[in-house]
Amino acid sequence: MDFMTQQEYNAGIRRVLISEEELQEAIRKAGAAIDKEYAGKPVLFVSILKGAFVFLADLMRAVSIPCEVGFMQAQSYFDGTESKGEVEITLDLQQDIRKYHVIIVEDIIDTGRTLSLVAAKLRERDPLSLKIVTLLDKPERRVVPLDADYSLFTIPDYFVIGYGLDLGEYYRNLPYIAEYNIFSDNEKDA
Ligand code: IMP
Ligand code: MG
Repeated sequence: MDFMTQQEYNAGIRRVLISEEELQEAIRKAGAAIDKEYAGKPVLFVSILKGAFVFLADLMRAVSIPCEVGFMQAQSYFDGTESKGEVEITLDLQQDIRKYHVIIVEDIIDTGRTLSLVAAKLRERDPLSLKIVTLLDKPERRVVPLDADYSLFTIPDYFVIGYGLDLGEYYRNLPYIAEYNIFSDNEKDA
């Protein structure tokens, strides 16, 4: 995306959907639930870059059990409307996951296509267990059946930005989740 002016940037933020306080409160609860469920177990948080890095950073600090973290990046290819596709792991974990209870940390589940392929690849590597935690879930958009084990917020089919989520790589640094103003692209020419 071309460099955005401050005015264009501000115009893209339509309204706050989930405030900083609401995010932190939900993350505190999720952290406490993880502490309880995984006490005494080796935990590896797996984050799929880049969108989930902000959520991961807060979620990790909301748990107090010993845990490790690893990062992956994936590129997925789908032919047309087919829900089946190929996923290429462009950045992989260093850990052998057979020793861990793996918790995949996602920013948002939309169609579910990329995450279902990545989760299948990880299951083949035989972790002690595998669960999915997602900050946001857009169930209306689902193309493949995929349920998170823990979803913090269910949202309608809006394009959202902030708290790690981007529009053309911008807005990841907003401390809240906002609805993107799709009309702001036209307004800048008006
Ligand atoms: P999917 O579930 O395979 O369709 O892909 C989910 C990915 O698409 C997420 O990890 C995000 O990077 C991106 N994505 C989906 N919906 C949104 C949105 O509303 N805002 C920003 N990124 C989104
Ligand atoms: Mg993205």
